[in-house]
Amino acid sequence: MAKKVDDRTDPAPEVLREVESLREKIRRHDYLYYVEGTPEISDDAYDALFRRLRELEEAHPELVTPDSPTQRVGAEPRDDLPTIRHTAPMLSLDSSQEPEEVSRFMDRVRRGLALEEEGPDPAYLLQPKLDGVSIELVYEDGVLVRGVTRGNGQQGEGVTDNVRTIASVPLRLRQEGRPAPDLLAVRGEVLMKLSAFEGLNQRLVEEGSEPYANPRNATSGALRQLDSSITAQRPLEFLAFDILAVEGDAFERDEEGVRALQSWGLPVPERVRMASSAEEVLDYHLAFARDRDELDYEIDGIVIKLDDWAGRERLGATSHHPRWALALKFEPRKEVTRIERIALQVGRTGVLTPVALLRPVEVGGVTVSRATLHNREELERKDVREGDLVRVQRAGDVIPQVVEVVPEDGRERADAFRMPERCPNCDTPLVSRGPFTLCPNRFGCAAQLKGRIVHFASRGGLDIEGLGQETAALLVERKMVVELADLFDLEVEEVAELPGFAELSASNLIEAIAERRRTELRRFLFGLGIPEVGATVARDLAAHFRTLGAIREADRETLEKVKGIGPKMSELIVEFFRDERNAAAIDEVVSRMEELSVYEPAPDEDRGSSDIAGQTWVFTGGMESMTRGEAKKRVEALGARATSSVSGATDVVVAGEGAGSKLEKAQELGIRILDESQFLELLGEMEGGTGDEEGPAELPDG
Ligand code: IVH
Repeated sequence: MAKKVDDRTDPAPEVLREVESLREKIRRHDYLYYVEGTPEISDDAYDALFRRLRELEEAHPELVTPDSPTQRVGAEPRDDLPTIRHTAPMLSLDSSQEPEEVSRFMDRVRRGLALEEEGPDPAYLLQPKLDGVSIELVYEDGVLVRGVTRGNGQQGEGVTDNVRTIASVPLRLRQEGRPAPDLLAVRGEVLMKLSAFEGLNQRLVEEGSEPYANPRNATSGALRQLDSSITAQRPLEFLAFDILAVEGDAFERDEEGVRALQSWGLPVPERVRMASSAEEVLDYHLAFARDRDELDYEIDGIVIKLDDWAGRERLGATSHHPRWALALKFEPRKEVTRIERIALQVGRTGVLTPVALLRPVEVGGVTVSRATLHNREELERKDVREGDLVRVQRAGDVIPQVVEVVPEDGRERADAFRMPERCPNCDTPLVSRGPFTLCPNRFGCAAQLKGRIVHFASRGGLDIEGLGQETAALLVERKMVVELADLFDLEVEEVAELPGFAELSASNLIEAIAERRRTELRRFLFGLGIPEVGATVARDLAAHFRTLGAIREADRETLEKVKGIGPKMSELIVEFFRDERNAAAIDEVVSRMEELSVYEPAPDEDRGSSDIAGQTWVFTGGMESMTRGEAKKRVEALGARATSSVSGATDVVVAGEGAGSKLEKAQELGIRILDESQFLELLGEMEGGTGDEEGPAELPDG
């Protein structure tokens, strides 16, 4: 039975002792539950300990310390995330898909260490390559003081409040086995289990919000929340795999380092192994590739690291990656299934995307029932028809796609698929633009209006909670919203009538919309869906012009003064604002809003916080939607480097029409290759902070 808490403020020694003993117990049970997976007490018993601690801390606030288990949640929401320099640079990994690269890597290490050619290979530590979000955690005197995203490798975003909410991250290192070092900077991955991800998405869809395209996006979104109480509701996990800096302790080998991390209570990846030959490495790779689908989290390969720390020191690093490690990646996952039907999806810009509706198939633990066929030309090139057996691929962050038709002897195929003459939605005659087919009825086509609403309300736009695909479709179908501005006139009673809504959810939605009458200019600009204007350009435009009026009046020359805006973009922007229907629609929306506030980010803020920050990209071949120069600027704005030759240091090659030797070299080196539409999808995702609203991956299946 708990004792009654004293009212006095200065704590008696026995209170202090009880507080400390409770914290000790709770930490131990957290560790057993979240790290070891072997809980020793019931949830009720745990809750009782926690309640008692909270009660004592409430009565004696001066006893609260930042590493108390009660302090995981409760930080004030922030206005922005601070930029913080890493303790030591967070480099990338050299990577390959070619098994032969392993022995080449091991040869390089040998040569670098001047080892005898015939002698035995040094020891390597092997781990799975986790596909989450990389982060640095810093412990001073055993207490967690900072969590910083990778950013551009030199500096990232401070997400300490958010990291504290992750249950498997110790707020204070355990000291059971060995004392905590004076300073420990550890790198690891934050991720979401696949099962938890599915649960989260289901919840989002039920709330009417957009689901995330994959666990990594969901993790990244959760980690970068300004309000850590939201992060706390997201099922995040942490695994530590690399010691960036340690003071007050020393290791000769990484194996010891990993053991030390474990003894300090940090969770580490499962199945860490040692190897001293290429065969052993390849066996490990094969075993993980085989078990990959059974794991409850995403991995995209294995990592091979020289075990000897002194050897690492001697080998050093390039500006991009350490010379002592290599990632051997898996092939993208492919499965075979049948196309039941080819549907057409009309996006907010009027582009028709052919989508293969598939007999549901598990591709690496995720059920895929639709895959993009990109556009008319792709469809013709691959000659994909209804009823065909096809190979479907899901490469981590890219939405599922049809790779090729699997030939079947003796089966009669359907007729070649043809694009209709008229819009399936509004019956307007369609037009062709390059490989794309377009419905030109921008303001009359309900499908486009629906797309515009979803984009306007999306995370990168006004971020209206509860206004996703399904709700937008209902609002348009029932003619409750005929133009964007109508959103602001919706009433609780009419929304409550919609299927899936009740009084409370309707008033939540109305409230969420009303809150956005005051919006940052950059969000508003993004939400308008101006062609080519993603979150980065929108932010730069807002910071440069500061008012919507100034942007609307700007001519091409003035626009091109903004970094990242070239002739093509300036033309599209001017054209967009000059269009009378657009202008009228914008006037209407603005007249119902209270304020478009300017938000001017510090120089370089955000930069480098994207997933591609610090990477090296090469563009080869021609693209339909932009010039190579523009494409380079776009990735540079996200913190990546664009170079012109393909080498081991290249992370991604974007291969457009007519790509030749650079593409071949990239294939040889096992470098990640994107085609134009995959590149656009990825850009949309990163610039918007959300998936491409036109992509089928954002649509709930069905
Ligand atoms: S070691 C730079 N080990 O992969 C050397 N990295 O493409 C230190 N990653 O974002 C990294 N699992 O965060 C290492 N077991 C593992 C890893 C791993 C995932 C991430 C890393 C980085 C990316 C590199």
